Amino acid sequence: MIASQFESGPKIATSSDATAIASPASSGSSVSGRLRSAAMNGSSLQATIAFVGKGGSGKSTTLTNLAVIAAQAGYTVGIIDCDPQRSSFEWQRVRNRTDIRVCRCGESEIEQNIALARRCGIEIVLIDMPPGARHALAAARCADLVIVPTRPTLFDLRVTHSIVQLLRSTQAAYAIIINAAPPRRRDGDAPAVREAREALAPVARRVWPRQITHRLAVVYATLSGAGVAEAEPAGVAAQEYAALWNALSADLNLIAGVQNVP
Ligand SMILES: Nc1ncnc2c1ncn2[C@@H]1O[C@H](COP(=O)(O)OP(=O)(O)OP(=O)(O)O)[C@@H](O)[C@H]1O
Ligand SMILES: [Mg+2]
Repeated sequence: MIASQFESGPKIATSSDATAIASPASSGSSVSGRLRSAAMNGSSLQATIAFVGKGGSGKSTTLTNLAVIAAQAGYTVGIIDCDPQRSSFEWQRVRNRTDIRVCRCGESEIEQNIALARRCGIEIVLIDMPPGARHALAAARCADLVIVPTRPTLFDLRVTHSIVQLLRSTQAAYAIIINAAPPRRRDGDAPAVREAREALAPVARRVWPRQITHRLAVVYATLSGAGVAEAEPAGVAAQEYAALWNALSADLNLIAGVQNVP
């Protein structure tokens, strides 16, 4: 059974197993002690985040980079790769480490795999959906938050608009992330990003005010099964993903953000 992939490999730490969680994946920013005690104060240790969007908008890239940062922040992280292209699964195969588990499944099996992930002690479940608007409702059903990466192009924005229409018909929390954007200018957003924000003005509250810039560092990190937070931890790309993780953690009332993000 595909779902059993979550169960393979070394033992996954449970929420009461703080020492194991603080081991290598936490890479110096060990927060597990803080995590566990903050959990007593009503913050959450768990979240399910699904990624939907146009083909090539950056779902898998955003997801894998956030997976690495969440693991560095002290969470146990699992990915459900629901896309037949299996990008996240391939990324993990190249990564060749067991710190972030990936299971493959079809759309109808997502819920049972989330339940299995929880039983295995996985705190942050990231779901990589297939491309296209029609998967938005399935994402909305199973996730606490739906992330919609969108490039600042007309074609992407059209699909994003359809996804937003679908998500608005549900109670789902969602956030639109402008990805693979041209670099910011001294005086603010590049024109393409400014226009994208204008096109998204009716749902401006859902649009992350920052951006993930198009950078080769992102491509190279992915090629080696890493996130930019591992490949170039001091780089600007890593800072952008860290800022995104912090924003999502705040939205989801999660405990651990990442320190020192400008
Ligand atoms: N911020 C970025 N900077 C540079 N390249 C990026 C960035 N985001 C994504 N890419 C590149 O864009 C391409 C598409 O990204 P990705 O595979 O993550 O999109 P996707 O939405 O998951 O696509 P699909 O719908 O086919 O699954 C990849 O080659 C990836 O390396
Ligand atoms: Mg993908």
